[in-house]
Amino acid sequence: MKFFIDTANLEQIKEAQDLGILDGVTTNPSLMAKEGIKGEKKILKHYVDICNIVDGDVSAEVIATDFKGMVKEGEKLAKLHENIVVKIPMTKEGIKAIKYFSDKGIRTNCTLIFSAGQALVAAKAGATYVSPFIGRLDDISTNGLTLIDQIRTIYDNYLFDTQILAASVRHPMHIIECAEIGADVMTGPLSAILALMKHPLTDSGLAQFLADHKKVNG
Ligand code: G3P
Repeated sequence: MKFFIDTANLEQIKEAQDLGILDGVTTNPSLMAKEGIKGEKKILKHYVDICNIVDGDVSAEVIATDFKGMVKEGEKLAKLHENIVVKIPMTKEGIKAIKYFSDKGIRTNCTLIFSAGQALVAAKAGATYVSPFIGRLDDISTNGLTLIDQIRTIYDNYLFDTQILAASVRHPMHIIECAEIGADVMTGPLSAILALMKHPLTDSGLAQFLADHKKVNG
């Protein structure tokens, strides 16, 4: 399972990269705005800065909502760095743009996926990744993991090579359950990744080992 971090914060990306287990980064317009990145020049530079930190795919989202605008923006984003994946929303225009990019060999991430039907259409258009937002489904009392399971079954039935990128991951159990189902990738906050490593028995076990060693070795 690939681990992506869902942020535009360079410090957090560096911290995650330093762990040695990071496979990529996802961003979106809200995450870029959270870092105060504004204006096209600065936004494009920020994507390059991210690409220079992480050795893996970096999703950069288009703002245009029409086919022509998405193509223009996506082509500019794709030229920034070989790691860029053009992130495109799940709309009719978005699907046309994904098909266009897929035919040109430009990688895409179809975002804002909330149903299996949307994921099926995105795979048929040739999306490299689909991003089902599991946390946001949980927020409205719908099980986000059920959607991951449905998409896994559909993609396996037809051998689609589109990767399931479980997004809007909020906590470590989301990651573990996505891994059990067979999501190809998860993206979430650094805190959820760090929480996977924690266990009280690890902490107390290590404290005991060190205390016993000190008893004999001083
Ligand atoms: O990758 C999707 C993500 O940014 C949405 O997460 O927590 O805002 O639902 P969240």
